[in-house]
Amino acid sequence: MKSAAYIFTLFLLLSAACARNSGDPDAGMNRFLDSLISQMTLEEKVGQMTQYTSNWVVTGPTLSDNVEEELKSGRVGSIFNALTVNYVRSLQKIAVEETRMHIPLIFGFDVIHGYKTIFPLPLAEACSWDLDLIEKTAALQAKEAAAAGLNWTFNPMVDIARDPRWGRVAEGAGEDPYYGSLVAAAKVRGYQGDDLGSPQTVLACVKHFAAYGAVEAGREYNSVDMSERMLREVYLRPYHAAVDAGVGSVMTSFNDLDGIPSTANKWLMTDILRNEWGFKGFVVTDYTSMNELVNHGIAADEKEAALLAIKAGVDMDMQGADYIHNLPDLVKEGKVSGTEIDKAVYRILREKYLLGLFDDPYRYLDNQREKNTIRSKEMTDHALQSARESVVLLKNDTVGRKPVLPLSKNIKSIAVIGPLGDDQADMLGSWHGSGEAKDVVTLLQGIKEKIPETKVRYVQGCPVAENDRSGFAEALSVAKSSDIVILALGEGAWQNGEAASRSDIGLPGLQSELAESILATGKPVVAVIMAGRPLTISRLADHAPAIVNAWQLGTMAGPAIADILFGDYNPSGKLVISFPRNTGQIPVYYSMKTTGRPASGQKYTSKYLDIPNSPLYPFGYGLSYTRFTYSDLKTDKSEIGFGEPLTVSVNIKNAGDRDGVEVVQLYVRDVVASVTRPAKELKGFERIALKTGEEKTVTFTLTSDNLRFYDKDMKYVAEPGEFKVFAGRNAEDVLETGFVLK
Ligand code: NOJ
Repeated sequence: MKSAAYIFTLFLLLSAACARNSGDPDAGMNRFLDSLISQMTLEEKVGQMTQYTSNWVVTGPTLSDNVEEELKSGRVGSIFNALTVNYVRSLQKIAVEETRMHIPLIFGFDVIHGYKTIFPLPLAEACSWDLDLIEKTAALQAKEAAAAGLNWTFNPMVDIARDPRWGRVAEGAGEDPYYGSLVAAAKVRGYQGDDLGSPQTVLACVKHFAAYGAVEAGREYNSVDMSERMLREVYLRPYHAAVDAGVGSVMTSFNDLDGIPSTANKWLMTDILRNEWGFKGFVVTDYTSMNELVNHGIAADEKEAALLAIKAGVDMDMQGADYIHNLPDLVKEGKVSGTEIDKAVYRILREKYLLGLFDDPYRYLDNQREKNTIRSKEMTDHALQSARESVVLLKNDTVGRKPVLPLSKNIKSIAVIGPLGDDQADMLGSWHGSGEAKDVVTLLQGIKEKIPETKVRYVQGCPVAENDRSGFAEALSVAKSSDIVILALGEGAWQNGEAASRSDIGLPGLQSELAESILATGKPVVAVIMAGRPLTISRLADHAPAIVNAWQLGTMAGPAIADILFGDYNPSGKLVISFPRNTGQIPVYYSMKTTGRPASGQKYTSKYLDIPNSPLYPFGYGLSYTRFTYSDLKTDKSEIGFGEPLTVSVNIKNAGDRDGVEVVQLYVRDVVASVTRPAKELKGFERIALKTGEEKTVTFTLTSDNLRFYDKDMKYVAEPGEFKVFAGRNAEDVLETGFVLK
């Protein structure tokens, strides 16, 4: 027999539907949710604010006994890491059929760059500068994850990151706030689509709020301290863009910010996020970050931690069981009000409602759809295109009369040497969902499929990270007897992502030594670097004639790199993070300040004794097999008033002998302002395809709105005066003009 509460829920849904039909959807939803909340006990309410992970055993996912008991008693609102339609159904059934209030669970997972089909690492894909592609990737990831029964991804990770020692640079879109904001919004649109209720979409979760990418010394879980100006102008912008794009949830970060850990930070979670930005969704902690307020030293015990978190505006507790253990008592003691609890529960239930889970808690659960969607051709085709567009060609010297790349398909023999040459697992990169190594096409396989007639031999040479030289001799002998060597170097997947900070971001293990001995043979060498962060490869850059930065490209890594190597795809990727010359140069990013003593030949200027200030490869950098020339950069006016548009135009010609794609970049510098301003700031870009010989004028529009910053009184304004305008192929190689804002 159905319980009275169940029948009541149906009645509420019906009245919500009637309200919808009468043209007032929010009123109906609100009536439904308010009535539901009024029926719930305090324990059930805090249950909705509680999330646990599902565990894994050899035979598949499982819940620990106590979580199952908690679930049955209505003390759980969400489960994450529970995968597959059958398993999700079994848990949803408990929530909907065995608990008193029958409230469906929301199922989360870290779909960071794919659920089963693994797309390039987010940092890699960001190098495409192709927002349509990025949005489509997110939509496909949502489709595949939703087909496995999931309704919530803990992505996009939009933390601006300028310190590649931090392993999580792999998960974001690099160093620039303007570009990072566009990527953040594209991903939210991709995941959530137009209708969160569609079984093809999932709720997105922007993270890690806030400024997690600025952890001191690039060390994971470390502290952040920065000016409010820097925070607002750089670090907050992508989260704000995600909120403007309608993201339904936000995750707190592990770090403290100016002494207040995010999970207890009311200024961030309530004042900025909700009151300034109008965020309507719910806030979830990062994994046990509420409990960690005790380690941070701002809470004496977990009860105080829960109090700080709820007061800050945190709605859901991930895995720590801090809320469920302490909030009921805090309410009984009068320290937390019933209204505070109801608000948090409302926000969570609202997203469940928008996902359609109250209409049909099983709507995502269709075994046939799961079978048809996962690893479908639609997924792998797009994964291949995304991988091609992610690759950045760093170097391509001319040897004899021709550039080393692209390689001829008529080549007789190739040696593929290096630990990542035939590697499946590491191509998946960090945070690879439930992607499986067996589904990955390796570089070696990609090359063999491309040129079946050629003799292709593979030698590992050395492992990724251990000091084992036993493979060197064979590597050298195979290199010597081949026409060309492809060196497959880089990081293991475990060397980037969470808890993977590195104090030295050079090639791990003996890889540099292996590379140098192969280079010493005098054979033509193409180095392919596969990593989740920029590596310090100055020596390789000096000696290898060609370098392809392929990142970790996921399931279709091999075919994509082979397409680049043999010219079936003309590389178009451009770096979204600067490549430091060595680890000591970090942080190095294009939008640094000029300082009072800009570097010059003088000793007492801002510089190093041993290296230039410029990075090895700058932001926006990436070569093509064709050659683009820039000319005729101009503005349509020499002066503009506030609010008046300025048109900037520049000519780009494909002067080479191949069709290609170029990312035309626009930067601005405010020459004199009330506070110091970056030497350059990205203000626009256009990704254009040009046939050989074709020429195009690209135009950008700027107004005083694009020139705003936080002035010395923290007002967000544009100030009159002189501005420089730059357009070009990367942050360093630009043409220059200017205008005056009156
Ligand atoms: C910790 C990570 O910081 C976060 O990004 C992730 O979403 C959660 N764990 C859940 O897996």
